[in-house]
Amino acid sequence: MATSTETAARPGAHELAPALPRDSALDERGRLQIGGCDAIELAREHGTPAYVVAEEDLRALARAYVRAGRETAGHEHFDVVFAAKAFPCTAALALFAREGLWCDVASGGELHLALNAGFVPERIVLHGNAKSLAELSMALERGVGLIAIDNFDEISRLQGLVGDRVQNVLVRVTPDVRGDTHDHISTGQADSKFGFGMDEAGEAIARIEQVPGLRLAGLHAHIGSQLLELDPFRREVAELARLGSFEVWDLGGGVGVRYVSDQPEPPSTAAYVQALVDAAGEHGMGPGSGARLLVEPGRSLTANAGVTLYTVESVKQNVSRWVAVDGGMSDNLRPMLYDARYEAHVADRLGGSTPCVLAGKHCESGDVIVREALLDDPRAGDVIVTPATGAYGYAMSSNYNGVTRPPVIFCRDGHARVVVRRETFADLTSRDVS
Ligand code: LLP
Repeated sequence: MATSTETAARPGAHELAPALPRDSALDERGRLQIGGCDAIELAREHGTPAYVVAEEDLRALARAYVRAGRETAGHEHFDVVFAAKAFPCTAALALFAREGLWCDVASGGELHLALNAGFVPERIVLHGNAKSLAELSMALERGVGLIAIDNFDEISRLQGLVGDRVQNVLVRVTPDVRGDTHDHISTGQADSKFGFGMDEAGEAIARIEQVPGLRLAGLHAHIGSQLLELDPFRREVAELARLGSFEVWDLGGGVGVRYVSDQPEPPSTAAYVQALVDAAGEHGMGPGSGARLLVEPGRSLTANAGVTLYTVESVKQNVSRWVAVDGGMSDNLRPMLYDARYEAHVADRLGGSTPCVLAGKHCESGDVIVREALLDDPRAGDVIVTPATGAYGYAMSSNYNGVTRPPVIFCRDGHARVVVRRETFADLTSRDVS
């Protein structure tokens, strides 16, 4: 296998597909390399579908976030909280824990994954609009750093559970700021299932202050996901600031990424973080204020680090040219849930001009991964790559049609390591009890 130092010098992959990992390249035969590993050899050795992650991209993105906040924007109390839901894979969580990131968890299961991967409890933030008593107890017992309180019932529940502990909490606010994104992933609007409205937040704060075991550290908001403009984030900060002065401001995640070549350019990590820190500065939570600023990126830390490899099983032509692969909605539900667009390439013939529909193998017509793919004369047996599947693909995968879930393979310097194995048929019946 070629090493990344050999391949890094050869341009090509990014010109053809800017959504690919930074640590990707084309070799002299035009074959795609991810983290220095040949995509077709990976497919041959590990089978398809497979999630392939350029490990160095994860590390570089984590470092870029921290640097952008602490060094470039100069905020001494800036921390990056990885939203585990984007890629709840232990190897990725462990990598981010080692990089000093915090972790956002949205359930008892994600809390278990984060602790198991090595996050210290103090650096974990628990979210959720329907936290169970069991989840709240677990968070209190394990000593998570922050619980973001979503509703009045949760205040009562925590009051009953906290005992003689002192738990730091945030109030989750819905600031009535709507960014331009798909309805299913917009959360900041007034009529949202998440958080307290601006008119209720004051009462929530007052109620929490009455509970001896709850210490109000600050506010949290998350206005939506895959947002490509920065202005909604600035408005979010301005709205939160209207509620008073606090020690911790958790501004959520949500900045968008590049999925396809012909989409608006996403903000760079540096520009996004600078915009947040600047807005924070305008409202008394900037550098030198003593306030702690948290951001909770999920997608922007992992999406572009990952690709999915598939094998073409059949090609047929009717009104369209249907290229059917060995995965689909069981490994990437985003096109079906959000009309999310992806692009696809033949792994040794990137680019291409044959209009095709890249279809999955599942028993429904909606199982289309890329409606308008341009492929180079695809044939059965070809390896197909879809870039930018590192976020919310693995996380939302399923066993629909009894399809076993793909492995996750981390690639770095020409070495591939399987960090999650492929499911087996035995896994499909492993929970049956009779
Ligand atoms: N913080 C909170 C409280 C969140 O609810 C989320 C995402 C994030 C942070 C991270 O947002 P990100 O930086 O990844 O945009 N399944 C959907 C995305 C749902 C996002 C839910 N919350 C998708 O595949 O697009």
